[in-house]
Amino acid sequence: MKHFAPLSLALCLLLISCKQKPIERTFSIVPQPVEIAAFAGEFQLSGLTKVAFENVSPRDGAMMYITNVFEKFFVNPTFTTPEKCKKNAIVFSLNKEHDPVLGDEGYRLNVSKNKIHIQANSTAGLVYAFQTMYHLWDGMVVTHAPSKKSDPSVTIPCVKIIDYPRFAWRGVHLDVSRHFFDVDFVKRYIDVLALYKYNVFHWHLTDDHGWRIQIDKYPKLTEVGAWRPERPDSEWRTPKPNQPGEPMTYGGFYTKDEIREVVEYAAARGINVMPEIELPGHCSAILAAYPELACDSYPYRVEVGAYWPPKAILCAGNPKVMQFLKDVFDEVTPLFPFEYVHIGGDEAIKTNWEKCPKCLSKAASMNLDNLELLQGWMVREIESYLNSKGKKMAGWIEIIDGECNETSLIYAWLGKGKTLKAIERGNSIVQCPTSHCYIDYYQADKSTQPDAIGGFLPIGKVYSFEPVYEELSAEQAKQILGVQYNLWAEFLFTEKQAEYMLLPRVLAGAEVAWCAPDNKNWERFKTALPYQKTRLNSLGYHFCDDVVEMPE
Ligand code: ACM
Ligand code: ZN
Repeated sequence: MKHFAPLSLALCLLLISCKQKPIERTFSIVPQPVEIAAFAGEFQLSGLTKVAFENVSPRDGAMMYITNVFEKFFVNPTFTTPEKCKKNAIVFSLNKEHDPVLGDEGYRLNVSKNKIHIQANSTAGLVYAFQTMYHLWDGMVVTHAPSKKSDPSVTIPCVKIIDYPRFAWRGVHLDVSRHFFDVDFVKRYIDVLALYKYNVFHWHLTDDHGWRIQIDKYPKLTEVGAWRPERPDSEWRTPKPNQPGEPMTYGGFYTKDEIREVVEYAAARGINVMPEIELPGHCSAILAAYPELACDSYPYRVEVGAYWPPKAILCAGNPKVMQFLKDVFDEVTPLFPFEYVHIGGDEAIKTNWEKCPKCLSKAASMNLDNLELLQGWMVREIESYLNSKGKKMAGWIEIIDGECNETSLIYAWLGKGKTLKAIERGNSIVQCPTSHCYIDYYQADKSTQPDAIGGFLPIGKVYSFEPVYEELSAEQAKQILGVQYNLWAEFLFTEKQAEYMLLPRVLAGAEVAWCAPDNKNWERFKTALPYQKTRLNSLGYHFCDDVVEMPE
């Protein structure tokens, strides 16, 4: 036997070195991780696999989410303690000491044949690692869950991944006013954001076509403001005024319990929910419910269809308006733990203010030269009120026209020129220009597509977006907190249509938000898309099949 010893030692060393040598392998993870090294072999995931959480309670919402996904696919993996996880085990470890490479949201994911070890500084990081692991499942499209006793049917390739986002702010918006989407759908929508590591869900809760959040002090907001006539889809483009006595049967709203449920659901997936309560424009639904808050006596209604320009505006000269807004924020802010509240501020057309004695005298009393500054006064008042409640304020970029504070977070949906101006003023920015982030626009040749609002934003163009303009200094670049994709709902007549507009463009957006520019690669991304579509298909999502390149 003696002469075998050196040989087996050599064999061992060879095996160890082979085991650790990275191999070539392609993956379909979206967004692409920062560093990924592949190794030979696979982890076999089965009902016999043990799962443990280290330094974090299994009752934590995020860990319960992970547990539920496992259970969905593996019947009942054995949840145990980390000490019992020597083999065939997955351990999720929350770092006791901050790992500076990972920042707040990053993670390390080490998959060997025996064990999967995930480390992160936050529960969000653990959830993102889990999503990456989920993207690696060879048997991702599991149509039958393997039973505890069956052979393993899901494999995860051996990898070492270190990953963290480029931008701290990675948002997707949903307008639930133009068309209403119930809680189940909102959760399904949030599931997509979670799959692709977004962390802000911007919930556009109020607009001309429906008020969608329960406010106890103003019950008519939902009794009246949440309802409009039910009309054929075709009437959206050719709106006809509400008829006397017409039944107001289309609409809906979220109760406070439902809002809490969604917020908790999102939090478990690493997603913050930011409510938007629009002011001072886009408020027909408010004025239909409380006409005394208008400048004039026009009979405002919750109408069907895209009226333009929207003339509804809250009367800035009426003290009841400011009281109303403060009362509403008193009820809204406790529902949303996220530090930001969005107050709209876009497209506030001021023809009513120009004719309103109360608005004009309010502006004169403050020596304001123009009515943009009157909006600015309202916005600053609301910002300090929100601050007094421990919140920060976000608004659409038009709020800079009224000299909003530098502390307001600006949603830059208009052109580059205006965005640069906001940056020069010192505001922080979430980039969402129509040119690259409006996913209510057509995504392929219009003649082949369901009716949409207009525009043209193919997935290749979404992918090509660079949110940090070349003109910016390194210091100014820090003012760009991130990027958001906006889904306005004028033409979202069904849930399927909402999914279709979202998918797969938000996958491209996820790489804009997560990946450093030199880690983006359109050709690589395109090869990942079929895999991602199969997985979205298996989850029942509806998506657009056209992969249209960036137009020249
Ligand atoms: C917007 O699209 N009006 C923000
Ligand atoms: Zn007025």
